[in-house]
Amino acid sequence: MPRVPVKLVSWDEIVEWSRGLAKRIKESGYRPSVIIAVARGGYVPARLLCDFLGVENLLSIQSQHWTEAAKAAERAVLKFPYKVDLKGHRALLVDDIVDTGETLLLARDYILREWRPDELKIAALQWISTVAKFKPDYYYIEVKEWKWFQYPWTRLEDVTQFIKRMIAETFKETGKEKWSYKEILESFREWYGVEVEEFYYRDALEMLVEQGFLEKCGEEEYCLKEKPQQ
Ligand code: ADE
Repeated sequence: MPRVPVKLVSWDEIVEWSRGLAKRIKESGYRPSVIIAVARGGYVPARLLCDFLGVENLLSIQSQHWTEAAKAAERAVLKFPYKVDLKGHRALLVDDIVDTGETLLLARDYILREWRPDELKIAALQWISTVAKFKPDYYYIEVKEWKWFQYPWTRLEDVTQFIKRMIAETFKETGKEKWSYKEILESFREWYGVEVEEFYYRDALEMLVEQGFLEKCGEEEYCLKEKPQQ
């Protein structure tokens, strides 16, 4: 059993799910005149919904959790709170997934208050019904068992985070500081239960070297440079 349950999502699945989601929206009779993508996860689904629903107007709002440095404060924040006038519009707010739903709720409240569309509905490709604080108006897949859905547009970012976490945790548990490239690949499969194209591991390791977390310490070897707190 992998330590972190991960489901790799393919581009083909994204197109299929977005099309299925568009179909549900159409069947409901709702005809949005503007789509609002929640950055960054909602970008690709929102663009595909524009295509499948024949919507020309596409806006975006960036609502996200504090990442990395400020992890202690797991609050959602709006990064660029600009104003537009959506009077006379039926809006559809789109994200990839409703996990806790916090980022979406923050965006929804802000849009209703500041952009004032006539109507606003929420759509997501996936809804984790067991942890979400609300149910979106439209979703394609209901997830009951929490997993990390590895979407194709964050493959490098996720692989980088996954490797970093695996190396940091292993150091905390065993003091291991030096990894061969082969060990990294093997452990990655054990930890996460998935494999990605080879270039993602290479690029992720390059990122971790650039970030100062790892350093090259041999032909195909990487050593911890920034030691995690034990
Ligand atoms: N973003 C927030 N929760 C997520 C999950 N479970 N999988 C992928 N992306 C997410």
